[in-house]
Amino acid sequence: MELILVLFSIIFFLFFLHCIDVYGKRSMPPGPTGLPIIGNLLDIGQKPHESLAKLSKKHGPLMTIKLGSVTSVVASTPDAARDILQRNDDVCSGRIIPDAVTSLENYDTSVLWIPPNHEWRTIRKAVNTFLTHSHKLDTLRDLRENVVEGMLDFLKESSLKNEVVNIGKLAFGVALNQMSNTCLSQNVTNYESDDIGGFKRAVKTLMEVDGKFNIADIFPVLKPLDPQNLRKQAKAAYGWFDDVIEGFISERLKHRNSKLPRFGDMLDSMLDFSEDNAADFSIIHIKTLLVDLFIAGTETSSNTTEWAMTELLLNPTMFSRVREEVSSIVGEDGKIKEAKILELPYLHAVVKETMRLHLSVPLLAPHKTEKEVKLGEYLVPKNTQILVNVWAIARDQRYWEKPLQFMPERFLGKEVDYKGQYFQFLPFGSGRRMCPGIPLAHRVVSLMVASYVYHFDWKLTHAREEMDMNDIFGLTLLRATPLVATPTLVN
Ligand code: HEM
Repeated sequence: MELILVLFSIIFFLFFLHCIDVYGKRSMPPGPTGLPIIGNLLDIGQKPHESLAKLSKKHGPLMTIKLGSVTSVVASTPDAARDILQRNDDVCSGRIIPDAVTSLENYDTSVLWIPPNHEWRTIRKAVNTFLTHSHKLDTLRDLRENVVEGMLDFLKESSLKNEVVNIGKLAFGVALNQMSNTCLSQNVTNYESDDIGGFKRAVKTLMEVDGKFNIADIFPVLKPLDPQNLRKQAKAAYGWFDDVIEGFISERLKHRNSKLPRFGDMLDSMLDFSEDNAADFSIIHIKTLLVDLFIAGTETSSNTTEWAMTELLLNPTMFSRVREEVSSIVGEDGKIKEAKILELPYLHAVVKETMRLHLSVPLLAPHKTEKEVKLGEYLVPKNTQILVNVWAIARDQRYWEKPLQFMPERFLGKEVDYKGQYFQFLPFGSGRRMCPGIPLAHRVVSLMVASYVYHFDWKLTHAREEMDMNDIFGLTLLRATPLVATPTLVN
């Protein structure tokens, strides 16, 4: 009898250990119970950043969500974000490619979407050789200032005619020209007509289509049907882009062969890099990379500018403070120089506070686990989608005083910046997938906001209290109602 008891105890103990192994080590983070087949689809709705923030209050900083066949782990605190983007960055830096993106001919060379492999590292190197070097960006400063001059001419005309201006739409055209000047040393659009050459339409279409919820992404059996026509629309826009960019590249190759002086822009830098790394970085990579940069760097910048202007038009004291600060560095020719505005502390604080309260990319670009990984006390399997709700973190009162108020002063004299080291503030992400466009974005947004504020007074078309502050979720978090106001030239 004693022997049986001992044996029983041993078996029970082993079974207990097995349970800890299976259920303890292997369990996913908790999350809301889903319905069969669709999972938590009905919990998510039109504004995933908001519904996930609410759900995380109940289910915790790491939470599992299931949408159709896609399982996601959502991080909603700085610690959980650090665990993913710093401690386990190597494993959590994959991507799930949306079905619409696969219509880009060479999507498997796209820095935005390929896994963090050797090819991706080479492309990031090609990007960094130009974009993260201030002195290289500075060589194109005159071009960027010319783009702003063009914008001011348009606004002066509107001021003379007392015409209402759609500030975000204008900022989008400006951001597009800033990107095209950085990459190709030329403008690709103007501000008077709706579109020139189709750039605005192509970028807007791709932002919309790639950012739309696509039922085929969560039920892959539907992919061949393309039920929302998203792949078809994306294919047309990508195809247009591909042809146009190919034209720019072949023109540039001719120019380089003619031995005329180089432009010294991003395209020249990519072609130089390709000559030095011919086996790893081809013309196809350059073509795809240029498309990627237009998609990643245009609407994000214009959208941030539009939100900054929204807040400044709602807060006249802050508006005046920015104008006063900018006045102090305006040259005798009455022009704002990019080099001088970059160090203006209050303007910088306004841009940071805009990026905190109105995050352009609220869930970061979705990441994916490349293999099984331990996050906190959980074991998350390979191929799990990872969403970092930076929007929820940036509005959490545990980390921010009066988080829903626009208060640029909170950044004055503080070290907190957006370069991925402060996990309560990650507008550009962190770790290896972090945005490489920060220095350019900083220049473009600051120059635009400074110019709008210094040169013009703005009259809203409605009372301040009636300002719609709603946003629409997509690849970027856009204003639901465009910001419109009438400019009056003052400087
Ligand atoms: C205010 C403006 C901008 C914001 C808020 C922004 C934000 C972001 C965010 C959140 C990501 C994803 C990070 C992640 O997946 O963890 C990203 C990726 C990226 N951004 Fe930006 N960005 C901006 C401007 C730019 C500009 C101007 C460029 C290019 C000149 C650019 C190029 C890229 C690229 C290439 C990636 C993909 C990186 C990769 O997957 O390896 N961005 N950006």
